[in-house]
Amino acid sequence: MRLWFSVSVSVYLVMGLVSAKVKKNDCAKECFGVFFKLQEIVRTEEDIRLYTPHGQTAKVCPQKTTVCFAAELHVLIFEYDGIWKENVTELAASVIECLEHFLHNLRMPSACGHTEPSLPTGCPMCEQFHEESVLLFLEHLKKFLQFIYYCCNICLSE
Ligand SMILES: *[C@@H]1O[C@H](CO)[C@@H](O)[C@H](O)[C@H]1NC(C)=O
Repeated sequence: MRLWFSVSVSVYLVMGLVSAKVKKNDCAKECFGVFFKLQEIVRTEEDIRLYTPHGQTAKVCPQKTTVCFAAELHVLIFEYDGIWKENVTELAASVIECLEHFLHNLRMPSACGHTEPSLPTGCPMCEQFHEESVLLFLEHLKKFLQFIYYCCNICLSE
């Protein structure tokens, strides 16, 4: 009985993962596509510095983290003055849309299994994070996007 139970639970879990994976990949592909183009273009802009949520804090405070990344992407659009201004503006705006979509879904109680604030000190304000070069900022944003798409329920509610 116990064996049968765990086998059927495993089958259920595997099937759930497979069907979830297809939908998640469809949804994530577009966001990662624009993200990597943006990362490629701003590669040489080391002097732009942005507040950068990182590590565990980003995961236990997904809402504040998302808002912070989006706000700092607006700062990037404002501060970038290279020859690809239009591209950066368009790509960063698309990534912001992805983040806003996530924020919208995050209002569901089940999202990520977290409810804020779960840190003893509450979730930090954007300005409490370190300012990092845009290169490092984007590396942390990439990790956060991976967390969003592969660990949270984001694309499943559509
Ligand atoms: C910027 O956008 C234009 C028009 O879409 C495109 O032709 C060009 O290749 C883009 N530049 C870069 C560096 O991606």
